[in-house]
Amino acid sequence: MKHKVIVTGGCGYIGSHTVVELIENNYEVVILDDLSNSSIETIGRIEKITGVKPIFINIDLKEEAKVNAVFKEHKDALAVINFAAYKAVGESVNKPIMYYKNNLYALLNTLSAQLENGINGFIFSSSATVYGTPNKLPITEKNETQRPFSPYGNTKKIAEEILDDFTKATENFTAISLRYFNPIGAHESGLIGELPSGIPNNLMPYITQTAVGIREKLMVYGNDYPTKDGTPIRDYIHVVDLAKAHVLAVERILNKKQEENFEIFNLGTGKGFSVLDVINSFEEVTNSKLNYEITERRPGDVPELYAATDLAKEKLGWSANKTLNEMISSSWEWEQKLRAKLQ
Ligand code: UFG
Repeated sequence: MKHKVIVTGGCGYIGSHTVVELIENNYEVVILDDLSNSSIETIGRIEKITGVKPIFINIDLKEEAKVNAVFKEHKDALAVINFAAYKAVGESVNKPIMYYKNNLYALLNTLSAQLENGINGFIFSSSATVYGTPNKLPITEKNETQRPFSPYGNTKKIAEEILDDFTKATENFTAISLRYFNPIGAHESGLIGELPSGIPNNLMPYITQTAVGIREKLMVYGNDYPTKDGTPIRDYIHVVDLAKAHVLAVERILNKKQEENFEIFNLGTGKGFSVLDVINSFEEVTNSKLNYEITERRPGDVPELYAATDLAKEKLGWSANKTLNEMISSSWEWEQKLRAKLQ
């Protein structure tokens, strides 16, 4: 019999890639999504890639009674992976209540519906933003967390604190928080990828949209940071590598391999690349010139972030193996297919 996993936000960028990996590893998947920042078309695309259509339920996780009813219907699920959240850093600064409500009500309603229905495993989609400005590199899971710059980031930090309390108070309930560094790239099929609504906040979609002609030029936010070329350094990680880590986290929970009821793992490659490194690699991979300009720093940007990856390797048996060039070429392929389809 297939093990059932509920994936909230399963139509989104990282969610959809994870659903593909789960199906390919023989899990039955139930997607809960309100489609507020994703498209129903993703379901058909997942089916095209895997040959299996996941169960889809359109639901706003802020609606507690509805969440309870859905979890009751799927109480044979063994674990939940929680991707459902708003994620635009800048928007969260302007609309903090909307972010706290959406991200935290969804989490709380999910956890209480799990409790009610005896679904005891939980995987949380967290972020390296909880480390704030790190005083030590590479960042290990033992690095202290700081209050993130943005309300978005703070919802991740608060969520981890809730999970810490909840797992301590709830016998048999186990959770894993996965702290992503900078996810980019797309599935090799070119059928799923990142679909930012409006003007992208993040570097990679901004680059590909500029190259395809939707944006006039990329603004590089500052070249006066204390790094090798003055631009900030990040640990970019292929979304498919990231998705695979979620399957291993589910297995760790189902096989009762956890050493503590609440575990935290960094998901990164351990390698840092500057903004100019990414631009140069993009130009090399696509054999084209990117229109860009150096401008002011963006408030809240940290000079340098990259992960220590040992813990995920040792405990989850996971490490990233896709290169920056593979990340860039898959992002580029996705962008081109997307635009060809939209025209
Ligand atoms: N950048 C530009 N121009 C742009 C966009 C980004 O120069 O148009 C630069 C940023 O200044 C930064 C780098 O590219 O130096 C990466 O920026 P992203 O916005 O792609 O990523 P961040 O590292 O700022 O944020 C990411 C996730 C957040 C998460 C954070 C944790 O998007 O969700 O990592 O560190 F909170």
